[in-house]
Amino acid sequence: MEDDHLEFRVSQCTTLRLREGAQADERAFKPFKLPLSRQSLAGYVAITGKLLNIPDAYAIPPDAPYQPNRSFDEKNNYRTRSMLVIPMTEPQGRVVGVLQLINAMNGRGEPIPFDPQYEEFLLCLASQAAVAVSNAQLNRAIKDAHYETIYRLAVAAEYKDHDTGAHIKRVSEYSGILAARIGMSPEEVELIRYASPMHDVGKLRIPDAILLKPGKLDPEERAEMERHTVYGGEILANPKSEVIAYSERIARSHHEKWNGTGYPRKLAGEAIPIEGRIVALADVFDALASPRCYKPAFSLDKVISIIREEDGRHFDPRLVEAFFDSQDQIMQIHARYTDTPGQSVTEIATAGL
Ligand SMILES: [Fe+2]
Ligand SMILES: [Fe+2]
Repeated sequence: MEDDHLEFRVSQCTTLRLREGAQADERAFKPFKLPLSRQSLAGYVAITGKLLNIPDAYAIPPDAPYQPNRSFDEKNNYRTRSMLVIPMTEPQGRVVGVLQLINAMNGRGEPIPFDPQYEEFLLCLASQAAVAVSNAQLNRAIKDAHYETIYRLAVAAEYKDHDTGAHIKRVSEYSGILAARIGMSPEEVELIRYASPMHDVGKLRIPDAILLKPGKLDPEERAEMERHTVYGGEILANPKSEVIAYSERIARSHHEKWNGTGYPRKLAGEAIPIEGRIVALADVFDALASPRCYKPAFSLDKVISIIREEDGRHFDPRLVEAFFDSQDQIMQIHARYTDTPGQSVTEIATAGL
């Protein structure tokens, strides 16, 4: 059960035969959604929390509150007969889903009704499944809350530089795209997506006189400005969570360059953490391709030629390759999250979270 609908998934099936001539892509069951209403068997059980044991779905009296959905059978050349529809009820009484057993058979493979003696046992099984489902939902909710907090802190930290928050949204998405393209695992991609918004959190400690200075910085001011990497690392130091550990490494290393001429530590090549190399490219691309108070957005041709020039100098060649392989996806993000003044911070912050 998801919000206002049920999502139907087949978990195990030994009898469903495919129609003659079915295409290969029809062989896999695609989950589908049905509205949460008492008129379907699953909906009735989900809403009432009552078990239904039906000997033949096609013999349900027409005045019953529920009727089987025959379109499923027609589509799959299937004949639903017996059904045992069981609520997945948590100990607190909330129904989180419905377990539907269809077409019981005897030892000779002949259709029989479900024996009522199994009802109690299956209710137990379904309630254990309900606990597992609701634990997974809670874990997801905690993780989402954690990520959202990090994200909004990052937006706050960037507020003086980029007041819509679109810059960090784009950098986060570009970083995820690059990480996926070089073959990082979905878990690592997710961590990089959520850790990258914090790359400039150290700017919180840079005095406004330097951070917002319209003209060129003198060498001393420049050195202080560059220290935002170290300050960010200090703000995020000794992390307890994995995502903050990624953020710390990114904050410290996103201005290092592949050829060792970056800052603060002049690290080179693979001595720079991969997540720092990824954000370096994402951040620079975004700075070039977007308007800033001191410059208009560069043309795409110009941005691309700069990235090519910096291949192996500023940027890891493997990531430059990944960038060009993902150009369509990257341009979609570029077009979607713009620095339009009307676009609110929260609108961007929560998009796709
Ligand atoms: Fe930075
Ligand atoms: Fe940035």
